[in-house]
Amino acid sequence: MRISLTVNGELREADVWGGESLLNALRDRLDLPGSKNACEQGECGSCSVLLDGVLVCSCLVLAAQVDGHEAVTVEGLAGEDELHPVQEALTQGGGVQCGFCTPGFVVAAADLLRRNPDPSDDELREALSGNLCRCTGYQKILAAVRAAGSRS
Ligand code: FES
Ligand code: FES
Repeated sequence: MRISLTVNGELREADVWGGESLLNALRDRLDLPGSKNACEQGECGSCSVLLDGVLVCSCLVLAAQVDGHEAVTVEGLAGEDELHPVQEALTQGGGVQCGFCTPGFVVAAADLLRRNPDPSDDELREALSGNLCRCTGYQKILAAVRAAGSRS
């Protein structure tokens, strides 16, 4: 079936099969590989995108469901000439992890700061609790998001 949706501000069309996930459609049909497939079970947050302004795991959303809707992926967060404040802070603060988990952290943190620019530590941890890194601690990530919040 053919779907059309707005992705990162641009109207796009894709041919998808009935059981195909939004994640797959983004990566394989729309040339947007920023959202990662690390578990495909809604457990890791690597595939996080905003769908009509709500943070979702795109691996759990059917592409067919997003016909006529609006998605923002990690590729759509930065401006023309500048990184998103979360990307900037992660880069400067040494909070960039691997290419699988970082895109999801960026999208989830950007979503949090859009809703709450000055989150408490508990709110920050809660907001990022759906994003897993299997390898290391989260201190630099949390510090970077705090720094990004204070700049926005
Ligand atoms: S790939 Fe979607 S939550 Fe892990
Ligand atoms: S999963 Fe990305 S650095 Fe651990």
